[in-house]
Amino acid sequence: VTAQKYNNDYAGKRLLVTAGPTIERIDAVRYMTNNSTGRMGYALAEAAASRGAIVTLVSGPVHIAPPKGVSVVNVESAEEMFEAVTSRMEEQDIIVKAAAVADYTPVSRLTGKLKKQEGSLDLSFKRTTDILKYLGEHKTHHYLAGFAAETEQVAAYAKGKLEKKNADVIIANNVGDTSIGFKSNNNAVELFFKDGSSHIIEKMPKIDVAHEILTAIKKDDHVR
Ligand code: CTP
Ligand code: CA
Repeated sequence: VTAQKYNNDYAGKRLLVTAGPTIERIDAVRYMTNNSTGRMGYALAEAAASRGAIVTLVSGPVHIAPPKGVSVVNVESAEEMFEAVTSRMEEQDIIVKAAAVADYTPVSRLTGKLKKQEGSLDLSFKRTTDILKYLGEHKTHHYLAGFAAETEQVAAYAKGKLEKKNADVIIANNVGDTSIGFKSNNNAVELFFKDGSSHIIEKMPKIDVAHEILTAIKKDDHVR
């Protein structure tokens, strides 16, 4: 039904989408992660596949089943996600970075399980590689879509990320609003394009938001 509705408009397009959180290990049993459920990225993968795209889903650890007809690459850390994405970037037409990638990872992984001591614990973290920025810097032919999770000044920060990462579109969502975003079934986003235009997608189920995003990207990719 969906393929008919959208006239198979993604047929033959190669689309890679990242989804979910990353986890950054601290010791043998502990790690740092975030609130991402992966639902928005999975919805994008499902929607694209139903419209005929050849979809690769690079996923951090999540609790949802992969959509049918999508090849899934499971990763854990930001570094693993970087490898999984960059090793596959050449063959893609469109890359959508929906994952909530950790910005920091422990400077070193402790061997075994850390024993508690008196007093406070200091851990040191270093920056991870910004995958979207890397893709923007090495962009050849592909269309590059990033997300921006913001709690304030959504438009300003999203536009900043569009520039800084050389993306073609930034899909911004307000993660401060708990009726949408991370744990919710619904989402509402605003897309910011390179030509300065923007496009609002009102609050609706994530699968419908995914279809709207794909329609907007298709249109923009065409005129780019
Ligand atoms: N991103 C990425 N690699 C990272 C961090 C972020 O590819 N190491 C991508 C995300 O997948 C998303 C976009 O960059 O598509 C924006 O992520 P976000 O966390 O909103 O922005 P940051 O650039 O990390 O800045 P900050 O968290 O400070 O707002
Ligand atoms: Ca971040």
